Amino acid sequence: MTRFAAGDRVLGHALGIERHHNRAAEGAFQHYVVLAEHMSTPIPAHVRFEQAADLPLALSTAASGLFDPSLLGLARPGTPNPHTGTVLVWGGSTSVGSSAIQLAAIAGYDVIATASPHNHEYVRKLGARAAFDYRNRTIVSDIVDELRGKRLRRGSGDRFRLRAAMSANCAPRPWRT
Ligand SMILES: NC(=O)c1ccc[n+]([C@@H]2O[C@H](COP(=O)([O-])OP(=O)(O)OC[C@H]3O[C@@H](n4cnc5c(N)ncnc54)[C@H](OP(=O)(O)O)[C@@H]3O)[C@@H](O)[C@H]2O)c1
Repeated sequence: MTRFAAGDRVLGHALGIERHHNRAAEGAFQHYVVLAEHMSTPIPAHVRFEQAADLPLALSTAASGLFDPSLLGLARPGTPNPHTGTVLVWGGSTSVGSSAIQLAAIAGYDVIATASPHNHEYVRKLGARAAFDYRNRTIVSDIVDELRGKRLRRGSGDRFRLRAAMSANCAPRPWRT
């Protein structure tokens, strides 16, 4: 291990129950936890432990959903991104959604998100170009209008209800990937 020294403040994603691991020493709920170095990172000085504790699961979940080839399979940040398109993050103000907005934005995608109105400014600051209130009765048509003529990124297992609406209302082949 080269990246950390005794006394560093560190956060990490404990992999104890990950099915290929199944190692009690790497479980989170104990005094001393073994963390994989590549799943750990220093905590910036201005971030409290309680805040940092939220990051690993949120970030891992968002990253898996966006970049796992069996899910959305988007180009990862820092890799060439030959594809353009819009990523819709539903629940953009959640810890997972906040991570997803930032990851998709730095990967080069156009991002739109849903959140309550008091969080619209927040999701825009994270990188969403537009924000929509998911409680609004017109939410589906609002997003369909926003996406008209654009290319929405989606995974092969998508069951999102916009699909039917998009097929009916948008420009030809709006769901191509
Ligand atoms: N491994 C996994 O698969 C995994 C891991 C972690 C989380 N998750 C899932 O990811 C989702 C988010 O989890 P989280 O821990 O990140 O949440 P969280 O940080 O606790 O998010 C809370 C926020 O969710 C928003 N929200 C509530 N109801 C909503 C709805 N019907 N539609 C959209 N947004 C809504 C509200 O934001 P506003 O105030 O803006 O309305 C609320 O403040 C959950 O469904 C959770 O089960 C999955």
